[in-house]
Amino acid sequence: MAGNIEYLICDTCSRKFAPGEVELTCPDCGPQLGTLSVHYDYEAVGKILTREILSSRREQSHWRYLEILPVSRRPPALHPRLGWTPLYNLPKLAASLGLGRLWIKDDGQNPSASFKDRASSVGVAHAIEQGRKVISAASTGNAASSLSLFAACAGMRAVIFVPESAPRAKLAQLLMFGAEVLAVRGTYDQAFDLCLQTAISRGWYCRNTAVNPYLGEGKKTAALEICEQLDWEVPDAVFVGVGDGCIIGGLWKGFCDAFELGWIDRKPRLYGVQAAGSAPLVHAFERGDRTATPEPAQTCADSICVGQPRDHIKALRAVRESGGAMIAVQDEEILSAMRRLAREAGVFAEPAGAAGFAGLARAAASGVVGRDERVVCLVTGNGLKDVATAIQAVESRPVPIDANQSAVDAWLGT
Ligand SMILES: Cc1ncc(COP(=O)(O)O)c(C=O)c1O
Ligand SMILES: [Zn+2]
Repeated sequence: MAGNIEYLICDTCSRKFAPGEVELTCPDCGPQLGTLSVHYDYEAVGKILTREILSSRREQSHWRYLEILPVSRRPPALHPRLGWTPLYNLPKLAASLGLGRLWIKDDGQNPSASFKDRASSVGVAHAIEQGRKVISAASTGNAASSLSLFAACAGMRAVIFVPESAPRAKLAQLLMFGAEVLAVRGTYDQAFDLCLQTAISRGWYCRNTAVNPYLGEGKKTAALEICEQLDWEVPDAVFVGVGDGCIIGGLWKGFCDAFELGWIDRKPRLYGVQAAGSAPLVHAFERGDRTATPEPAQTCADSICVGQPRDHIKALRAVRESGGAMIAVQDEEILSAMRRLAREAGVFAEPAGAAGFAGLARAAASGVVGRDERVVCLVTGNGLKDVATAIQAVESRPVPIDANQSAVDAWLGT
């Protein structure tokens, strides 16, 4: 429960804050460097939440980890189906990649069809506990459509800043869930800054990724689920697509929390996968830097088209501390990963959702992951989110024919 938070700690200067003492980032380090991490009283939690207690819980959503979430209760009005997404065991695909074991965790199965529901649900629950009436976010699309869904459930006003170029399906979701949408004539990075300034000056709850420390707590639940779904036998490596770096930072927090609580005895290596045209974290990783430098961004994977990754410190820490890496893949590899996931795993992923798998294919081919290793790859968003790119990703096209049998026979060559 929220009462289990001991303190928040600045990712740069390590200054500690009592819960509620600051709202977003460390005032000494500012929003770029002063992102905060949530620290619980692990000794107290360890006494009330054990592996045995978890296995007896019937709650089939990420609220099963309530004691290590930053809210005191599961808000009854929020969507009932959340997290606890399927983890598919894929022996044939593992063998074809030259891996020991492979599981795909399909987070496109969340209610708004992306991983972001884990964070938005926690953000809205937190905003409700704070008595806020308006919630705002800047997003490449998924965080916003997800926030709009949970804000609608809670009867809150949602004001969303998206880049004008966001795919239509994501815009449709936003409007359908009743959000007020500002389509910014500019990049995601510009939308982010506009949203942050407006939310702070208006006293709105800010769901912007990275600057709100509580959102990563929702994201970490995917790691807790992986551990639990694999019966606490931790995988060797986990792959995921990366834009701002919040998902990978959240995953690492989840594995660290599980380790701290004695639920697991080791942690996996984390691999963050960026599109080569939008890879500031890969470059920072290769330079050995602890922060990323903004770069222009261009990729077909709109959700990870991020020039200034806001959770750079946590993301780089996650891959370094875990012994993993940041990997860049070409857009063509992402499109190929979409086809393979669909045809060999039955999972329809949006481009950013398939980026982790593209990185895994590259890592398997180069021996970064070995034949005996157990690997989990996260799919973070559903392919229906961006149908235009899905159509680009396939070689075939529908064959137009007249509506009669002889046209079919002619096509069949009989
Ligand atoms: C489908 C999908 N995958 C991956 C990401 C990357 O997450 P992050 O920006 O936290 O690195 C996003 C973020 O929008 C996303 O929507
Ligand atoms: Zn600081």
